[in-house]
Amino acid sequence: MAMLQRYRDSQRINHWIVVLLFFCAGLSGLAFFHPSLFFLSSLFGGGPWTRILHPYMGLGMVLAFVFLALKMWRDNLWTPVDTEWIRQSTELIAGTDKTASHQAYKYNGGQKVVFWVMVVSLLVLLVTGFMFWHAWFPEGNILMRRIAVVLHSASAAMLILTIIIHVYAAIWVKGSMRAMTRGTVTETWAAHHHPLWHKEMKERPRA
Ligand code: HEM
Repeated sequence: MAMLQRYRDSQRINHWIVVLLFFCAGLSGLAFFHPSLFFLSSLFGGGPWTRILHPYMGLGMVLAFVFLALKMWRDNLWTPVDTEWIRQSTELIAGTDKTASHQAYKYNGGQKVVFWVMVVSLLVLLVTGFMFWHAWFPEGNILMRRIAVVLHSASAAMLILTIIIHVYAAIWVKGSMRAMTRGTVTETWAAHHHPLWHKEMKERPRA
């Protein structure tokens, strides 16, 4: 079966490092979110260790994401094709899209929304996280810190929900997962889900 290269090894390693750190930062953060979730702190060596490690794991996730985003932001810039994709997305999700043609370059409109929500929520998590990182910044306005805590939790919830959608879509769209595990996709997958990217790849002169 004809294959197309979608991700290089370095991009895939980068992506899976982000995923690992997302789970570490997410689970350790949830341990502080509500007493019923405090048991999660035992994954990181108990309460004090979780408190110490959480900001570093969060910082690591943001840094790793920056490298990924630097590679991917250009392919996530909005185009009129994406507005049309979003307009037709209800039919796509309902499965009544027999006649609709879903045009997309490397990423479709839904993936682009997910990408930019990731960027914004990680940025808010980073800035607000620094605002109440007592170990390094013991001084600070209490009101600002309280606002930062609320915004930190809200953007964490936003990121977690977005990742649930991201993972659901990765599993739901058959043939996507191999893009991030093996780096390649079938030509049929590309022509069906990302027709304009498929065209670009076919027209690209071979090295
Ligand atoms: C278990 C969790 C995850 C799985 C199974 C997963 C799976 C995937 C797959 C299959 C793709 C390729 C999609 C395509 O090329 O069309 C992808 C792309 C991507 N993933 Fe993940 N992912 C996970 C978690 C994350 C997390 C936590 C982040 C960031 C916080 C992330 C950020 C990205 C980005 C930025 C892309 C490129 C797509 C774009 O820029 O729109 N992923 N992921």
